[in-house]
Amino acid sequence: MPRHIAIVMDGNGRWAKKRGLPRTAGHAVGAETFRKIAYACRDMGIEYLTVYAFSTENWKRSRDEVNTIMELLKKYLNELVDTLVEKGVHVKVLGDKSGLSPELQELIRKVEAISDTIDSPYHANICINYGGRDEIIKAAQKWAEDPERPPLTEESFSHYLYSDGIPDPDLVIRPSGEQRLSNFLLWQSAYSEFYFTDTLWPDFDENTLREAIKAYQRRDRRFGGAK
Ligand code: FPP
Repeated sequence: MPRHIAIVMDGNGRWAKKRGLPRTAGHAVGAETFRKIAYACRDMGIEYLTVYAFSTENWKRSRDEVNTIMELLKKYLNELVDTLVEKGVHVKVLGDKSGLSPELQELIRKVEAISDTIDSPYHANICINYGGRDEIIKAAQKWAEDPERPPLTEESFSHYLYSDGIPDPDLVIRPSGEQRLSNFLLWQSAYSEFYFTDTLWPDFDENTLREAIKAYQRRDRRFGGAK
């Protein structure tokens, strides 16, 4: 079983367009898919799930679309404030939070504080205003400004990334037929296995997840070594 699965939640816009709906309707269903898949991962014993919800480049989209995604994030985070303890999943936001609205920042702070009190092996990480290159640059800045900066190694540097304390993803899934990383977990996915499917994110379900895991289980991971 993979310990950490990371997903690019792609295809919401096309899912909506196929149905003659506005793109924002696709995001609403996509958010619901996130909820289902997060609990499916927990129930399957997958300790870490990381999803790409909003990239540093997604600000280029229309104001209406950006607002809808931000409102959905608020709605789901608000819901988590009340249900997190019962659900037994730690929630963490990865990304440049300073670029988000004060209201969203406060909500994230609340959810992360509640998460800190939970004793559970399950973690859901939501990437918001996240870019892999941005993360690496910010980590380099943090290291340079740290008066106690340690000698630079892969291990010491990784503690300055948003993902500090989170194991690297074993499996990265991208639905919707696109086969690229789009600035997602650049550092962390160095040895990840990739799985691509044509299924659009709003249609992604537990069966799609099982197919991806089966494909992962057939892979031969060598981490640069040889048999
Ligand atoms: C990519 O599909 C999806 C996004 C940029 C937004 C994802 C956001 C959500 C699912 C909502 C909030 C999330 C949570 C965790 C509650 P796309 O719009 O690029 O689709 P397209 O390629 O078909 O246009």
